[in-house]
Amino acid sequence: MSKFLEDTGITVPIIGGPMYPCSNPELVAAVSEAGGIGIVQPISLTYVHGYEFKEGLEYIKSLTSKPIGMNVLIEKSSAKYEERMKEWISIALEEGIKFFITSLGKPDWVVTLAHAKGAKVYHDVTELKWAKIAVESKVDGLICVNANAGGHAGDIQALALYNDLKDLGLPLVCAGGVGDKQQYEKMLSLGYLGVQMGTRFIVSDECKVPQNYKEAIIKAKKEDIVYSLNLTGVKVSVINTPYIQGLGLKPNVLVSYMLRYSFLKRFIHLFYMLRSIKNLKGLIKGKKSQQGFFQAGKSVEGIDATDTVKNIIKSFL
Ligand SMILES: Cc1cc2nc3c(=O)[nH]c(=O)nc-3n(C[C@H](O)[C@H](O)[C@H](O)COP(=O)(O)O)c2cc1C
Repeated sequence: MSKFLEDTGITVPIIGGPMYPCSNPELVAAVSEAGGIGIVQPISLTYVHGYEFKEGLEYIKSLTSKPIGMNVLIEKSSAKYEERMKEWISIALEEGIKFFITSLGKPDWVVTLAHAKGAKVYHDVTELKWAKIAVESKVDGLICVNANAGGHAGDIQALALYNDLKDLGLPLVCAGGVGDKQQYEKMLSLGYLGVQMGTRFIVSDECKVPQNYKEAIIKAKKEDIVYSLNLTGVKVSVINTPYIQGLGLKPNVLVSYMLRYSFLKRFIHLFYMLRSIKNLKGLIKGKKSQQGFFQAGKSVEGIDATDTVKNIIKSFL
């Protein structure tokens, strides 16, 4: 058994990646129930899907008794956010969650909390520089986010990223570009111990995004994916639509100027964060998807129909 399967307690090396706002509880549970591991995105669970955090976890646990995980976005800019995240981690640990995926920043404090209860932490990285910080923080594994990923994509292709990180002595999971069996097998053959998928699971019967979002992914080819710096302040992978073109892929001159100065940068990041939280919630409610706002990665290429999560995972094996 691989170290990754051992760390997660699952049988199929597939993670249902955390997705704001697309990770509804039924989707998370379905990935776990099918043998992979579904990851709870806490802001999605509470703010978008309307559950109290503990109640949401209990609902997911009523749908599956198999392991689930939790995503911790490390955001240092607000003490209130950090305090709330610590409270959520402690609830998750009480509820028996044994697997955490951290993104951004330095995950050392999450590792301390998790290891005290025998839980594992894998950290999202896009390059060696961040992986070294994760190693210093004593994480148990790395989620290697490559240039084809949905969400905040990296810049490095899967093979090169694997080669950059393989000597760190940690289990490596590939995130990005896997939408079908062929890509899944290819990533495992490179040496990755598992894959994390987001876009493929948006097009599943259990995911509650509006139908036209799923159809846009089914229709899209990899050339239709563009990267916008104008949605959250960092590169986000989206389907190229007239709406996205209208917004522009780059921040305007004033924002670019402010981003150069650290004391102004904080305000811009806060503005982007609040705007993106609001925009993305609109996506689930159908308002933004009507306008043509669809987050997805290059794995759109291999996705041609919706199905149950169970059948999707079965089709990879
Ligand atoms: C709509 C969307 C939202 C995402 N939100 C998050 C998030 O909140 N936290 C996170 O760590 N990763 C997030 N991701 C990244 C996914 O968890 C996963 O790593 C990525 O989708 C893998 O690439 P793929 O889309 O090609 O499968 C998101 C991805 C998508 C497509």
